[in-house]
Amino acid sequence: MIKVGVIGSGAMGSGIAQVAANAGHAVVIYDTNKSALEKSKSALDTTLKKLVAKQKISEQKASEISSHITYADDLKSFVDCGLIIEAVIENLEVKKKLFYELENIVSDDCLLASNTSSLSITSIASACKNTSRVLGIHFFNPAPIMPLVEIIPGISTDKDVAETSKKLIDSWGKITVLAKDTPGFIVNRVARSYYGESIRIYEEGIADFATIDWALREFGGFKMGPFELMDFIGNDINYKVTETVWEQFFYEPRFKPSLTQKRLFEANYFGRKSGKGYYDYSEGAVKPEPQKNEELGKQIFNRVIAMLVNEAIDALYLNVATKEDLDLAMTKGVNYPKGLLKWGDEIGLQNILNTLTDLQDKYGEDRYRPSVLLKKIAKENKKFFS
Ligand SMILES: NC(=O)c1ccc[n+]([C@@H]2O[C@H](COP(=O)([O-])OP(=O)(O)OC[C@H]3O[C@@H](n4cnc5c(N)ncnc54)[C@H](O)[C@@H]3O)[C@@H](O)[C@H]2O)c1
Repeated sequence: MIKVGVIGSGAMGSGIAQVAANAGHAVVIYDTNKSALEKSKSALDTTLKKLVAKQKISEQKASEISSHITYADDLKSFVDCGLIIEAVIENLEVKKKLFYELENIVSDDCLLASNTSSLSITSIASACKNTSRVLGIHFFNPAPIMPLVEIIPGISTDKDVAETSKKLIDSWGKITVLAKDTPGFIVNRVARSYYGESIRIYEEGIADFATIDWALREFGGFKMGPFELMDFIGNDINYKVTETVWEQFFYEPRFKPSLTQKRLFEANYFGRKSGKGYYDYSEGAVKPEPQKNEELGKQIFNRVIAMLVNEAIDALYLNVATKEDLDLAMTKGVNYPKGLLKWGDEIGLQNILNTLTDLQDKYGEDRYRPSVLLKKIAKENKKFFS
């Protein structure tokens, strides 16, 4: 069994190390910040104790997992690794420097992966002489709990490298999907309109946060409404992902960030973690009541779901992933109640098209243009899944 190296012992690196150790690998985790390494170790101890207390794992398994992980403050500790997953801060120059340095340390057959959420894999790989062994292996937060992992080959990644990595991560009990090296890969691209369109509805004064959240829970079956979810993820992270995806798509209007969220970000209203976001989380604060108007709720849901389905269809049209992987990614990566293509089939693709065409007519904005594939399938009266 290969030894796995993890770079960065923050939230993601620590979780990925736990997943690999749980699958029986020897894991070495490295960080430039000593206190981050110590924090990671004590957080793992706490997590394992909790898992034992809840009888999710045995005491023996817990001690096996922790004995599999070693903590290093020198990159040279990666010399005998078969796979390295990088999970340091989201900064292209920092990542490129690391990949450049790694290549001079590891063996020729060691695979090099990045857990980046939004940077180009091809660009990270360009720091290496051998770009064919570099790929994206994108876990979701928290890595030990979220089942989805996106596998992203760069333009020069060897086919075998992607296949071997996919099989390996599958063997760790994860659900893998293959995604093209495009901004946001699958989930962080397709999910953008859940947030963006909901904010737009608020900005237009159609409904308040609580009502929009209620509408998407009530009529869409989403576990969390968009504003609750943004406050949960953190408006700093969510805003930055939106901004990066928009910039990397050469300012595509469908991904345009909102001033509402930017102001929250600027005010440090990050959400739950800062005590205030779209909602107030201070002690004694009362959550506002939604306006439970069924007609309004359905109208909100129809608008948001049409944007989401259109985005998934466009990703299919542009070969970002297969239709099966697109639907799997949204149910396993962000807990959507249904895959968006299947959902579109159920609502009726002509209905989705009508909603978008109405919005485009009304606003005259490119943001609402239907995907050419949606138009084609609706015209042919077909479905994505029979
Ligand atoms: N947090 C998420 O929800 C999430 C989800 C999926 C992917 N990601 C991606 O995973 C990566 C890490 O995110 P995170 O949330 O764990 O960040 P984090 O801030 O919690 O941890 C980053 C760690 O990297 C360390 N670090 C910084 N520069 C380093 C270097 N040169 N060498 C070694 N260690 C270094 C820091 O000390 C820190 O401990 C990012 O690329 C992010 O985009 C994050």
